[in-house]
Amino acid sequence: MKLWGGRFREEENRIMEDFNTSFPFDYRLYRQDITGSMAHVDMLGACGIITQEEAAAIRQGLEGILSDIENGSLPLQGDYEDIHTFVEANLILRIGDVGKKLHTGRSRNDQVALDMRMYAREQAQVLSDLLENLIQALEQKGAEYPCIMPGYTHLQRAQAVMFPYYMSAYVSMFRRDRKRLLNAREILNESPLGCAALAGTTHEIDRSMTAAALDFAKPVDNFLDGVSDRDYLLELSGAMAIIMMHLSRLSEELILWSSQEFKFVTIDDAYSTGSSIMPQKKNPDACELVRGKTGRVYGDLMGLLTTMKGLVLAYNKDMQEDKPQFFDAVDTVTSCLTIMAEVIRTLHVHPDVMTKSVRQGFLNATEVADYLVARGVPFRDAHGIVGRIVILCEDKGCAIEDLTLDELKQFSDCFDDSIYQYIDYQNILKKGNKKEMTGYEKTRE
Ligand code: ARG
Repeated sequence: MKLWGGRFREEENRIMEDFNTSFPFDYRLYRQDITGSMAHVDMLGACGIITQEEAAAIRQGLEGILSDIENGSLPLQGDYEDIHTFVEANLILRIGDVGKKLHTGRSRNDQVALDMRMYAREQAQVLSDLLENLIQALEQKGAEYPCIMPGYTHLQRAQAVMFPYYMSAYVSMFRRDRKRLLNAREILNESPLGCAALAGTTHEIDRSMTAAALDFAKPVDNFLDGVSDRDYLLELSGAMAIIMMHLSRLSEELILWSSQEFKFVTIDDAYSTGSSIMPQKKNPDACELVRGKTGRVYGDLMGLLTTMKGLVLAYNKDMQEDKPQFFDAVDTVTSCLTIMAEVIRTLHVHPDVMTKSVRQGFLNATEVADYLVARGVPFRDAHGIVGRIVILCEDKGCAIEDLTLDELKQFSDCFDDSIYQYIDYQNILKKGNKKEMTGYEKTRE
């Protein structure tokens, strides 16, 4: 079923029809499509392009189609070229020839551009809400376990940090992600309806009226750009790729931390799976899948960028390919954000193991150097002194705080009894700007 054919002498080849159809994936735009059509038909009536009675009949028909799709009595199936054809064909079936007036002063080019903008705008909000949910889970988990843990550089134990502060690093990332989504949503919020195919229409339509009815800030400035702009899908896909990168890093932390080697956390049974051969195993599959799906979302972004590259103005059928890629990215990020929030919410943290790892890794060595600096030793010399102290500790198999004062004094006269208080891990985190790490301060915008 298609909306054209008048100028064709032969039937379309069946293989071509199957190749051309977008209905199997664009059916999900039904609500945006029908809502957009309602605004369009109201405007046609208000501007006197069709009569008020015709407009009312069409609107009623559209309302019926929408509620029947939603109550399941009109399934989104059949041999249609796209969602636009499905809606229009069903409209004509229901209300007769007057339905044929719906498409006055409009093209599928501005129609699909409108549908995608409305869909993208909604999804930006949905993803932003899912990010907020994950942020809350991270904040709560941090607050539940106010313990110290090793911080790493080069994946080598480096300095002590607080577990809530570690969670808060991810909170900062996901807050930036929210801003990116909401910023993209603001930029895209202009209506392309009324651009028609590429050059507007001879009918005296009112683009501002449809833009306002559909909650857009204004109509787009340029018709050619309006029907062929897919920047907003790229921006959102870019934001989604970054979200996935963040989720993938968090996944990697959890995979590592839940290993027998680390034992910092246990991922709840509800989000782990077993091995078919090794009875003892519990695998962090949820996190591995999130990490794996990151590649998919990067692929969607690259695919979409490549689809758009080299397209002359205005609409080209290539743009139909925006949908499977964008939908896949949205679905993937939605499921990953949902599962990650649950993995975090149910995560079992082992503060005892984390604290022990801090004590075993000379994680107060920098503070020993700071202590000497406070007593006038130049930092570079202090660095060398503490390096040699660490060698002695390694040989003895002990921590710096386990050395006697006499032992420490062999390295520098500046040591006195106060060193033990100074390099105690709880005290370290109360000094300097490290204080910011101990209070798990909420810095919501
Ligand atoms: N299915 C098309 C798409 O997704 C709708 C627009 C069709 N426009 C056209 N001139 N054939 O892009």
